[in-house]
Amino acid sequence: MKKEHTLANPIFAALIFIAAALIAIYGYAQTQNTGQGPSPTAAEKYKNIQVLKNIPADQLIPAMQFVAASLGVECDFCHVAGPDKRLEFDKDDKKEKKTAREMMQMMFTINAQNFKGQREVTCNTCHRGSPNPQAVPAVLAEGPQPIEEHEHAADPASLPSGEPVMAKFLQAIGGNVALGKVTTRVESGKALMPEGGSMPITIYTKTPDQRVSVMHTPKGDSVTAYNGEAGWLLFPGRPPRAMSAADELAARLDAEAFYPAALPQQFTALKLQPHPEKIGDNEADVVLGEAKEQAPVKLYFDKNSGLLVRMVHYTDTPLGFLPTQVDYSDYRDVGGVKTPYRWTLGRPSGSFTIQLDKVEQNLAIDESKFAEPAFAPAGTPPSPGGAAPPAAAPRGPKPPQGAVPPSGAGSTASPGGM
Ligand code: HEC
Ligand code: HEC
Repeated sequence: MKKEHTLANPIFAALIFIAAALIAIYGYAQTQNTGQGPSPTAAEKYKNIQVLKNIPADQLIPAMQFVAASLGVECDFCHVAGPDKRLEFDKDDKKEKKTAREMMQMMFTINAQNFKGQREVTCNTCHRGSPNPQAVPAVLAEGPQPIEEHEHAADPASLPSGEPVMAKFLQAIGGNVALGKVTTRVESGKALMPEGGSMPITIYTKTPDQRVSVMHTPKGDSVTAYNGEAGWLLFPGRPPRAMSAADELAARLDAEAFYPAALPQQFTALKLQPHPEKIGDNEADVVLGEAKEQAPVKLYFDKNSGLLVRMVHYTDTPLGFLPTQVDYSDYRDVGGVKTPYRWTLGRPSGSFTIQLDKVEQNLAIDESKFAEPAFAPAGTPPSPGGAAPPAAAPRGPKPPQGAVPPSGAGSTASPGGM
């Protein structure tokens, strides 16, 4: 900041609120990084960070995705493209980017002054998928809409246990004895593009939670991998990129959903939501999986079959939660264990579907498939520009958000979900 840091300066006053809010928000993210020393802040890694300075560098892109999702826009809404059509993220040429900075400060101030620093109000609270929030209520044209269930309706502590529903699920897919006989799976099928067409994919899994998805694109293989300890992404012609801590958590959950014997251990508590929810024509029991320092995961089990039909988990970004929804279907029996042959991965930026045609169990899979690749040494800028974000960030003025699944979808990792 160029101005004197006095309390009379409204910007500085706002920054104090931001600092307070940030400490509350980032306590969690920081502790995730213990063991590797302090992780670099966004200000250290990127070129022109004025508001989100103290967030861990690997939280900047998730925060950007949250902003884009909340406003229903793509990255180029705020970021200018250079002569080579790549977005120059550090430049402040667009007024929308400056407005966004002021909005971030406003959001932190609102929460600090009204909600004890709890992140109650986010960009999405007002914007709801549009750059222009609506101050005037819409005329009701289509008759009354059903009232959405209020998520905080019941105090979680008072909810009944979700253990029986989870136990019914494990039984429905074959039971622990049959599950115990599975060691590996090689699954092959296609990723179905939202706009038509498809690309072949192969998925290698090893119980309990290792999963490597390889999409065979015309440009080469695109890989999303998690080996039980670390996650990484590989895009054709680019260096490998490590997943953020939040993405790794999501990747582990995604991996375990396909081999669920260890799924219950992911959670400190399983709570049954008082009311079932409708998915399509069927009712599903909704179990909230609570975990430490993480938003509860919502697991939907078909009331009749007992099978897991949906999982919704949330990535905690500095500005709000980003949801990922996976819908599972087409369960088939493979060696005594039912496994989904079809699933759809949905994010605010778009969705795509995987349809398998073959699942082979207990084949030997070469260990090297699950070996973490060597990454560029820490501190190396992600690209010559230093500001270019991780691999999947869109490069042109019209980024293919949601259009290039799986790894390119939504300009980021598609952790494990393929
Ligand atoms: C609504 C506006 C908006 C949208 C949409 C947006 N950004 Fe940003 N972006 C910002 C603002 C504001 C900053 C600076 C934040 C600060 O100063 O703390 C920023 C900073 C960045 C930076 C840091 C650049 C540097 O070196 O200083 C990167 C990288 C970035 N954004 C990537 C993205 C990506 C990728 C997307 C799309 C997923 C995106 N942004 C979408 C507003 C936006
Ligand atoms: C309390 C409500 C509220 C919150 C929270 C909020 N905004 Fe806004 N925002 C508005 C309103 C209202 C406008 C329109 C102002 C106008 O029309 O001049 C707006 C306008 C904008 C614009 C300019 C849009 C355009 O078409 O040029 C951007 C960019 C923006 N907001 C980004 C954000 C971001 C990013 C966040 C979260 C960090 C956020 N806003 C949070 C209410 C909000």
